[in-house]
Amino acid sequence: MIISKPYLTVEQIQHKVKELAGRISADYRGKEILAVGILKGAFMFFTDMVKLIQVPVEIDFLVASSYIKTRTTGEVKIHADIREEIKGKHVILFEDIVDTGITLKFIKDTLLSRDPASLKICTFLDKKAHRQADLDLEYVGYEIPDEYVVGYGLDYDNKFRNLPYIAVFKEDSAHS
Ligand code: IMP
Ligand code: MG
Repeated sequence: MIISKPYLTVEQIQHKVKELAGRISADYRGKEILAVGILKGAFMFFTDMVKLIQVPVEIDFLVASSYIKTRTTGEVKIHADIREEIKGKHVILFEDIVDTGITLKFIKDTLLSRDPASLKICTFLDKKAHRQADLDLEYVGYEIPDEYVVGYGLDYDNKFRNLPYIAVFKEDSAHS
């Protein structure tokens, strides 16, 4: 396997996080947010974001998966649901990356059925090449091309999540 040099540096990530948190703070002025981090992938992005959001925030998490190594299985599992009541609340889902959109579409539909006041999506990365689900993404950090990326929470086989930057991951077929 090969990991590229940073594709998005720590500085680029922090710059984008500030920009997104600023937009959310402005859009939700006078309101409260229920911020939901989608684990595991969004853990770094989520903590960076909530530190900079300037309106009152409740925190919750949801654990979901649809991927085995680098391929989506198409089947979404919610391993741990949020614990807060969301009826009447302004919910923002924080995700690391949207690829086919199947995972978030499933989560969004599940939560919408519980009657929140509003529900928006904030994703750090948007990889449009294989989009299948019809999904509005209100807050997007970076659009990226069709590459498999790791770091800043994103994994390959549950590894590389701890890299502080985003790098491109490639299987090295000659040596794997
Ligand atoms: P989707 O259902 O295809 O949109 O998949 C979304 C989930 O797949 C994300 O939350 C990630 O956990 C994972 N994923 C998709 N693309 C990548 C990638 O390039 N690197 C790491 N994980 C990815
Ligand atoms: Mg994820």
